[in-house]
Amino acid sequence: MLAVCRRTEKLVGSVDISGSKNAALPVLSACLLTDDKCVIRNMPDLEDVRIMFALLRKMGKTVKFENNRAEVTGQLRHGALPEKLVRKLRASVLVMGPVLARLKEGSFALPGGCALGERPIDIHLLGLKAMGAAYSILRGRMIFKRNVLKGAHIKFSFPSVGATENLLLAAAAASGRTVIENASVEPEIADLCLFLKAMGADITRTGSVYTVKGKARLGGADFAVMPDRIEAGTFILAAASVGGSARVDSANPSHLGALLSKLRAAGVKISQKENSVTVNSPKKIKPVNIVTGPYPAFPTDLQPLWAVCMMRASGRSQIRDKIFPARFMYVDELKRLGASMVLKNAVLRINTSRLSGTNIYACDLRAAAAMIIAGLMAEGETRVYELKHLFRGYENFFGKLRKLGANVSMERIREEK
Ligand code: EPZ
Repeated sequence: MLAVCRRTEKLVGSVDISGSKNAALPVLSACLLTDDKCVIRNMPDLEDVRIMFALLRKMGKTVKFENNRAEVTGQLRHGALPEKLVRKLRASVLVMGPVLARLKEGSFALPGGCALGERPIDIHLLGLKAMGAAYSILRGRMIFKRNVLKGAHIKFSFPSVGATENLLLAAAAASGRTVIENASVEPEIADLCLFLKAMGADITRTGSVYTVKGKARLGGADFAVMPDRIEAGTFILAAASVGGSARVDSANPSHLGALLSKLRAAGVKISQKENSVTVNSPKKIKPVNIVTGPYPAFPTDLQPLWAVCMMRASGRSQIRDKIFPARFMYVDELKRLGASMVLKNAVLRINTSRLSGTNIYACDLRAAAAMIIAGLMAEGETRVYELKHLFRGYENFFGKLRKLGANVSMERIREEK
């Protein structure tokens, strides 16, 4: 599939944001901590979510999914994850915590890298080892045997989102008390903790320190996933980049503080209610620099979208990504549209750019969204290939954009002659 984008003067109207991919994935992994029924609502219909369903089914769970409602039942039978699924989904590493806490053994393929750069899991493994996990590596797989996980005092070298989720999942069902210091405090982790507490887990947080008292048994729960703050930020930046006035509903502005303050600094009018953000984009916007970092700093997942927005700014701005310093593979594709950008020493410098349509290729999930939005800003027609990346993390992206008046459609790629 490819996206066909044509110059769009402005975006108007409102759009409703789906449930959060990055909250749904750890919540689905938490369903492994019990054999009781779990009902998860506001579950986004995404490729990554369907891969997580497949992983749960491989481990013995029954997963029903309809109208954004998932129902997970059945017994966790084993923890041997097929490499093909693990390679497709980095977040599959999140099943390690629950599997080891409950089954005391498991085998997981070593994770691969991706467009964002190397994706190590050393922080996850150090935390699990501190809790008593031990593994050997055989033919690219980590083999854990007879691991009785016990509470431990863990201090992360970096506030890794995934490692925080993995250790919370392990600690919730391990015996004893676990303290995790220098942990991540992203809103998606707060959502995971709400779900775990609904299951009966004992978790408290002070600043970046979590304290977990493990429980021998956790029950099922009925839970609704939070709205996707990165999708909300994507549509807020789409309106700021293309121009116009749009309202993003089911968006929690308190999760988007860094983005909204940077947009206000750029001269974009932002008004907010408890569950919505309204964007009024002026004729000219000012260049504003960003540096990404752990929450509540500017989120790395929105830096490609910020780069596209700054192409409209009158002057030079720059981006540094302190989470994924190599997350600039999209720059060469935007240059094919005429972007005036220079990447040097992991700093991206952006100048006002006049864009004209051509064929470009997406390299990762957020870059795919950024390229489509750039295609709406470019003269003529832009065709964005490799859309598979987009379907991993955006539900009904084209329907939502068209509802705002975007001139965009999807086409099947005609078989090469
Ligand atoms: C989560 O990935 C998100 N994915 C990512 O969103 C997001 O970009 C990232 O957090 C940062 O916010 C999900 O939640 C499913 P990290 P994760 O562990 O958990 C290094 C998207 O577009 N690190 O916080 O993998 C790592 O290399 C995706 O939805 C280690 O060195 O992020 C990176 O530089 C993309 N050792 C930094 O920490 C480790 O053991 C952040 O990684 C783990 C991480």
